[in-house]
Amino acid sequence: MRVPMIAGNWKMNTTVDEAVRLVKAMLPEIDKVKGVEKVVCPPFVSLTSVAKVIASSSLKLGAQNLYYQEKGAYTGEISTEMLAGLCDYVIIGHSERRQVFGETDELINKKVKAAVENLLKPIFCIGETLAENEAGRTEEVLTHQFMATSNRLYFFGGMVIAYEPVWAIGTGKSATAEQANKTIGFIRHLVAHKHGEEIAESVRILYGGSVTADNIAAFMHQPEIDGALVGGASLKADSFVRIVSQTAAARGLS
Ligand code: 13P
Repeated sequence: MRVPMIAGNWKMNTTVDEAVRLVKAMLPEIDKVKGVEKVVCPPFVSLTSVAKVIASSSLKLGAQNLYYQEKGAYTGEISTEMLAGLCDYVIIGHSERRQVFGETDELINKKVKAAVENLLKPIFCIGETLAENEAGRTEEVLTHQFMATSNRLYFFGGMVIAYEPVWAIGTGKSATAEQANKTIGFIRHLVAHKHGEEIAESVRILYGGSVTADNIAAFMHQPEIDGALVGGASLKADSFVRIVSQTAAARGLS
């Protein structure tokens, strides 16, 4: 059985004070929810402060990015060594990194490798753009992105995959639960093809893109979808709490 997971990607939002207030506001209710893995991914500067707040809770911490080199003259970058011990997870290959910062499949592969080698679990993001979707190229694009970052060891390192169709991110226009289920089923099929059924059955594949407290239950009723990577709706304590508790309810855990 795959443990459902809800991760909040706060992106470039919240000052340190706001991050601490936000996590304190959500923590008591979220901590009560059992059977769901719950993760928040604040900006780098807030990681230490948020880590202190959640230290003795069931809430886990993730970073939003890393650089693959151990240390050195890489102005502005953060290494795995700096994050290891502080975070459990790290988001890698988010479409905003790919599109706004020009990250390539090659760079993303190096980042995932560096994360796993330093015991950070990657939340590895893949997804097609609107133009690719409309041209019927979704499966081709996902295959390419997946194959470029697909080493068996990554799965043993606890890698989670997040399917985030770019057209659904921050647009308020989510994929339908059935669409997302079908595409995530396709990704699981890719994993099985490359690494075998056992790994495919155990890897968690999340959906991301305009997930809210109102639509999470529909996603979580689908058999292939193991949780969600939530952007905007993770920035309000009450909506993130509802997303987590509805995930548990949809899976019969509460
Ligand atoms: P939204 O939930 O704001 O659409 O963002 C999704 C996302 O990019 C999560 O990583």
